Amino acid sequence: MGIQFNDETFRNDYTYRNSPAGLARFPFPFPEDEYMYSVNIEPHTPGRKGSVFEHSFDVDEHYVSEMKDRARVLAEDPLRCQSLPHMTLAGWDLLELIMESKARDYPDMFELHKNGNKWRWVNKPLGIDDTFTFLDESTLPYGPMEYITRQAQGDFTLQDQREDNLWIEAGMVTSQADWSLDFDIGMSFHEWHAPVPLAGGMGIFDRALKFLLKLQYGAPVRRFNWTMTVDPRLDTAPETYPKWGPSKTTLNMDNVGARQHLRVELQTLYRLPRSNAIVFPIRCYLISFQDLVTVPKWGRRLHRVLQGLPQELAEYKGFARNRELLTNWLAQYDDGAPTSPGW
Ligand code: HEM
Repeated sequence: MGIQFNDETFRNDYTYRNSPAGLARFPFPFPEDEYMYSVNIEPHTPGRKGSVFEHSFDVDEHYVSEMKDRARVLAEDPLRCQSLPHMTLAGWDLLELIMESKARDYPDMFELHKNGNKWRWVNKPLGIDDTFTFLDESTLPYGPMEYITRQAQGDFTLQDQREDNLWIEAGMVTSQADWSLDFDIGMSFHEWHAPVPLAGGMGIFDRALKFLLKLQYGAPVRRFNWTMTVDPRLDTAPETYPKWGPSKTTLNMDNVGARQHLRVELQTLYRLPRSNAIVFPIRCYLISFQDLVTVPKWGRRLHRVLQGLPQELAEYKGFARNRELLTNWLAQYDDGAPTSPGW
């Protein structure tokens, strides 16, 4: 297999690491020295070879360990995966999308053999070789969404479209930036976005919803989101806040480089063919500050972004109490040189 998978943890001893090759392909999300919310949506077309955009569903060195972490979260809290009964067809759509994409993009690791509705799925990194009947739930060990998203990095939500709105009505959410599927399930687009500061007043959610209602099958789109996480922890859910929230109080100038991570979400959106639902995969990438500043233009830019960020965003993203510490540490890596637009 082309990828060497890390054996690492996202909790307790936190052995998560990016290899030099992993760092080189890290999706740094800031095209400018300033950041403000916008409708930053572009076509999800294949990108440069080796980049996180090369394939529809990026598989990287963290894949196997990430799937083990997901299984642990689900064992402790099964409500991280929910699908309302009318969303099962969308789950099959998603299963098909991921299986076809991975078998096409990574043929050395994944195989999909179809004989009518009898499908055989081979996932070599996870040691899975299953035969099932497409659209017959009784032939899989889990519902179709749960089955395939236990084998795909990132979180996933499925939105039904009706009444000119989108409704979160299914999801696999074990690596989220402090929001809860169990709380949001059944909500509409503006309802689940209600906690976000400033963006609603700027008309961002009105425009984004209008755009998404017209999203076409076969024309997926993507956008970046980002936040901050202390230690490389994937499961930063409200449900587990007592396990990770207090770590924010333990940062200082000596440990911030190793422990503070920039958390980048590569979010994509696909229209699904049978259900007309929209799937929203949220793929999370973590990089420690000390690794990030090895790329001088990233260190400089992150320093400037954090310095100029509206305080409401620092509060919403959960790092207001450490903002000064983070900017002071990053200041060592900002020589004042001009940066050029773009990545
Ligand atoms: C935040 C879901 C599409 C912009 C969020 C949150 C959720 C979410 C659950 C966290 C809210 C909380 O704090 O509880 C979704 C889903 C989408 C979607 C399911 C697709 C169906 C979009 C699009 C935009 C967008 C297209 C484009 C502008 C934002 C922004 C935030 C946010 C700016 C705040 C993020 C931050 O500062 O960290 N979204 N979203 N969302 N969403 Fe969306």
